[in-house]
Amino acid sequence: MISHYVYNVCKFKKWKILLFVVGICVLLLNANIILRSFYPSVTQLTELHKCPACYGISACRDIHEVDLLWHDRKAIFSHLFGVKNVFFGTYNRSKVVLKKLAHSFELNAFDVALCEKLDFNYPCSNIPLDRFTVDFYHLIEKTITSDFSKDDSSRLRLCPIVYHLDDLLHNVYLNNKNVDSTEFLINLWTLVSVNPEPLILQILSAKNGWPVPEYFGACGRIIIEEYVGAPLSDYHDKPWLERAKVASSLLNAAHMFTFRNEQFGFYLTDISYDNIAVDYNNVAKFIDLENIIIVDKNPSRKDRPEKWQELHENTMHLDCPNCFAFSAEDICNHHLSDHNYYAICQLLSGLQSADLFSDGFLHDIPINIQRQYSNVDYLLQQCVAPTSSNSRIFFGQLLKMTLDAILEMPRRKHNETK
Ligand SMILES: Nc1ncnc2c1ncn2[C@@H]1O[C@H](COP(=O)(O)OP(=O)(O)OP(=O)(O)O)[C@@H](O)[C@H]1O
Ligand SMILES: [Mg+2]
Repeated sequence: MISHYVYNVCKFKKWKILLFVVGICVLLLNANIILRSFYPSVTQLTELHKCPACYGISACRDIHEVDLLWHDRKAIFSHLFGVKNVFFGTYNRSKVVLKKLAHSFELNAFDVALCEKLDFNYPCSNIPLDRFTVDFYHLIEKTITSDFSKDDSSRLRLCPIVYHLDDLLHNVYLNNKNVDSTEFLINLWTLVSVNPEPLILQILSAKNGWPVPEYFGACGRIIIEEYVGAPLSDYHDKPWLERAKVASSLLNAAHMFTFRNEQFGFYLTDISYDNIAVDYNNVAKFIDLENIIIVDKNPSRKDRPEKWQELHENTMHLDCPNCFAFSAEDICNHHLSDHNYYAICQLLSGLQSADLFSDGFLHDIPINIQRQYSNVDYLLQQCVAPTSSNSRIFFGQLLKMTLDAILEMPRRKHNETK
């Protein structure tokens, strides 16, 4: 039938009609391809053929029940232009976030390097497990060990020693005890190379009270986590008392990351308005855990750096008051650092923020509160840049206690502040 049609077209020289029909077909095909890249399905996002060089498969059974939310113009814009690779959806009637954990160009670079490492031509996929002959445990140790002589861009650093890595990963092992051990190590290595966020979400699990989103698992190159709420930037102009509650929760988080775990100190190195979200209770949670320094608090005596017992106090504000500058090496060389307080207090004071937020998160303290608690500003400034012998941590804790006292004031008094 088609050959008959083509014969007639040739016979009667109806080229224009043929071209027109072919053109329409090509257009429809392209439109479909374009639409699919505009709105990729969950299955497309998982890229399961890349496993075991992926984030795991714990959520693969449920991932098809996630409905991606594409009605949000912001989501489409960020997907198309920002290439953020962060998607929003609903699962079991709750809002969830799906993350590919890196920009597309970073994932491509990882894939190219992986094919090279395994002696395959790029693109390589569906590689059988027995072709992964490298010692992945060793690779993981190497990836998370700082080399301070280079400009090391490690996302997760474990220092000053990696000796207790298995203790650090205890929860991750528990959650994956049924996964083949080689596959599991390749998943781990992929995560420490691309983005360790899912590991941190399991180590510091929300279920144990850590201020992070709940982790629901991974499927291929996608992870699913709880949607916390709007970013901190949306709270900049909320009523003062709401902001005070958020600020108190941020200082509480600084305390938890620093002190709560007896074996490890967690120092977040990418704290910003966009990397924190606020839940329905005005509690801040850390939603971007890609960059973190984990200090082993109990190295053996011989592994202790020279100034190990001293408190590390970041003094970089003296040279650059408006920067968020820190030395990973200094943090790693001390059993305790004031880094988390430095980062949170700087954020609250607006020092490292764009003009829009430069008045600080706790701007415009109501007059009545100011009268009764006149030291809020002072405590914050001292936490940013201490000028007395007391530490930044001391002032940060005092600021939190003051904010909590204000929040506990009888409602009547609050109303007087309006
Ligand atoms: N669990 C979450 N709950 C609520 N919002 C989230 C969550 N995770 C991410 N977001 C939103 O998506 C944005 C991007 O997420 P994330 O910071 O993880 O991606 P990113 O690509 O690492 O961004 P960048 O590297 O530019 O900081 C966040 O700024 C936040 O607005
Ligand atoms: Mg971010």
